[in-house]
Amino acid sequence: MGILSRSAGGKKPNENMRLIVTTFVGLAFGFLIGVSFPTLSLTKLNLSSSLLPTVDLSYTEDKKSDISSQSLPSSWPSERSKNSSSQDQSLNGKSRIWVPSNPRGAEMLPPGIVAAESDFYLRRLWGKPSEDLTIKPRYLVTFTVGLNQKKNIDAAVKKFSENFTILLFHYDGQTTEWDDLEWSKRAIHISARKQTKWWYAKRFLHPDIVAPYDYIFIWDEDLGVEHFNAEEYLRLVKKHGLEISQPGLEPNKGLTWQMTKRRGDREVHKQTEEKPGWCTDPLLPPCAAFIEIMAPVFSRSAWRCVWHMIQNDLVHGWGLDFALRKCVEPAHEKIGVVDSQWIVHQTVPSLGSQGESQNGKAPWQGVRERCRKEWTMFQMRVANAENAYFKAIGVDPSNSTAH
Ligand SMILES: *[C@@H]1O[C@H](CO)[C@@H](O)[C@H](O)[C@H]1NC(C)=O
Ligand SMILES: *[C@@H]1O[C@H](CO)[C@@H](O)[C@H](O)[C@H]1NC(C)=O
Ligand SMILES: *[C@@H]1O[C@H](CO)[C@@H](O)[C@H](O)[C@H]1NC(C)=O
Repeated sequence: MGILSRSAGGKKPNENMRLIVTTFVGLAFGFLIGVSFPTLSLTKLNLSSSLLPTVDLSYTEDKKSDISSQSLPSSWPSERSKNSSSQDQSLNGKSRIWVPSNPRGAEMLPPGIVAAESDFYLRRLWGKPSEDLTIKPRYLVTFTVGLNQKKNIDAAVKKFSENFTILLFHYDGQTTEWDDLEWSKRAIHISARKQTKWWYAKRFLHPDIVAPYDYIFIWDEDLGVEHFNAEEYLRLVKKHGLEISQPGLEPNKGLTWQMTKRRGDREVHKQTEEKPGWCTDPLLPPCAAFIEIMAPVFSRSAWRCVWHMIQNDLVHGWGLDFALRKCVEPAHEKIGVVDSQWIVHQTVPSLGSQGESQNGKAPWQGVRERCRKEWTMFQMRVANAENAYFKAIGVDPSNSTAH
């Protein structure tokens, strides 16, 4: 309700001004095209038309990158400050565009030009855009890495075919040091110091950015992939209808949860038994509807939900694993572990040792403490949000399935 009334009420007074601005941008655009491309036929610009924005659209598609991106913005403020009522009248209200079904904030654009989603496909600077891509990978794999794990990541990346876009998040600022690896040039490198996997994921893996990918791997750097085949893994994920999954883990010792332990006798498992008393409900975490956060794989639709649940300030993601089930239905059938394609968790101290000493404690202790604190905070936020929701719709939260 709030959003509806705000946009309906807020936009109207500005509309005339916006039209003027649009017109002038259109004029400026046309002018610049004329200046930049004197050889182009002016008739193509069709300046007599009252639909100036439409005219520059046709140019946007062909010439956008050619028209110096520096010249347009710098000319814009001065054009904007001009004020002409004749332009206003020539538009006569007929060319106003308002498309409520467009993405929020883009209602003034004709839907044909709205590019609401993006991708990580690398393009060329020359040639036809339509011929840039020889292959459009349908899967995305990300690793959060430091240079110390170069060998391990090299081995891991080689397990992912050309059907995968490779995206590395560098937490140690070292990126060019990877250039000698053959695949590094087709990978995307994002560098921000001492940030966590979930910090990067929240900022660089917005669902609209990763929209072309059927599945998204968001993996740690310390995973051994000798017994893992990515295409085969995805075949099993599809076969068993898993929206959120991870490979089974070896070795068994030192594992926190039974659920993620690899089983040798099957392709996939979705339920497990835990220590007595650990599971109040056999269909709820940690006995089902549960995977850990070190090597998750999300379907596009599951990720669209999970991304929204990631908190900007809770960077370690602790507790997220217990809440993943809120994003798929029924969770105990759509969350599972793929046993026949499994990985080794090597537990290499990486980011954990990148903290800072405080109060005489070792850096890793401070990190660990924050992890626990974040877990509590996340649980509280989820519980509060659910309570507030059920209260608002007049339902007793204690009767809901969510807790
Ligand atoms: C543009 O015109 C409107 C009225 O038509 C006026 O209120 C506004 O101050 C003018 N803006 C400039 C920059 O001249
Ligand atoms: C990549 O995807 C295509 C189409 O799905 C498939 O035929 C091919 O086998 C895949 N490549 C590998 C290495 O599996
Ligand atoms: C909660 O559920 C029980 C049993 O389903 C029902 O009898 C009770 O009225 C419910 N309470 C509220 C506040 O909805």
